Amino acid sequence: MVVGASSGIGRCVGIGLVRQGYEVALLGRRTDRLDDAVSEAGAGAVAVTCDVRDSASCTAALEQACDALGGADGLVYSAGIGPLVPLVDTTPELWREVFDTNVVGAALTTAAALPHLAASAGRAIYLSSVSASMTPPWPGLGAYAVSKAALDKLVEAWRVEHSEVGFTRLVLGDTAGGSGHGATEFTSSWDTDRVAEYFPIWLERGHVSGAVLDVDQIVATIIGLLETDADVPSMTVMPRPP
Ligand SMILES: NC(=O)c1ccc[n+]([C@@H]2O[C@H](COP(=O)([O-])OP(=O)(O)OC[C@H]3O[C@@H](n4cnc5c(N)ncnc54)[C@H](OP(=O)(O)O)[C@@H]3O)[C@@H](O)[C@H]2O)c1
Repeated sequence: MVVGASSGIGRCVGIGLVRQGYEVALLGRRTDRLDDAVSEAGAGAVAVTCDVRDSASCTAALEQACDALGGADGLVYSAGIGPLVPLVDTTPELWREVFDTNVVGAALTTAAALPHLAASAGRAIYLSSVSASMTPPWPGLGAYAVSKAALDKLVEAWRVEHSEVGFTRLVLGDTAGGSGHGATEFTSSWDTDRVAEYFPIWLERGHVSGAVLDVDQIVATIIGLLETDADVPSMTVMPRPP
């Protein structure tokens, strides 16, 4: 089950897994986009509409996905948002939206999938960011970095309560995603004036170098994590410096 599979990395991972022979449920809010991904993936994919900010939707969607797949042995949590807003302008509503999507949704979908993941001694992989653990927070993305740091701790908390499931934090550097709807839409809400303000700072501080990860490397890493017998608490994948 790939949560956040209607665009970007999650879409590429979902399609990549189907092409590798997995049966995969693709979850997200935009049903038309999920249907499009299912068509591209071919036999073995199913679309399930899910809003991770809504607990009833998480429960119903994960149940629907597990029913369709006849159980589940893997969860990839790719859903995430990262508004480009300075902390001083981050409203209570925006804080909640970021945390509901990036942290609470991860907890709720995991809880809903847990009986199936436990029965199969399965795996759960959560996409985190270098900005939460490898670098200082990036100016303008404070709420995002704080939420990903919370996600990192959430993965550790699941590990101590449920050792029967292999929980992994997958820390990623910059990627543009794939082609078409596989391109990342992570920055699509960003205001261009704010990008112009913050990008030079990120460049100067070395947060971005111009190098981006090939999304196929991320897909291959996730397939490797799903297939290894080893316990992998955390992994980091970054682009090589130019
Ligand atoms: N791109 C990068 O360079 C990068 C680097 C490090 C980490 N990451 C992480 O990788 C993950 C994927 O990022 P991306 O670049 O692929 O971004 P993206 O193209 O914007 O994809 C985000 C996905 O999250 C889903 N989503 C957002 N809100 C949701 C909600 N309330 N309920 C269900 N699904 C929701 C979106 O689907 P709907 O809108 O259809 O719901 C979409 O499928 C994120 O967690 C991001 O933090 C990305």
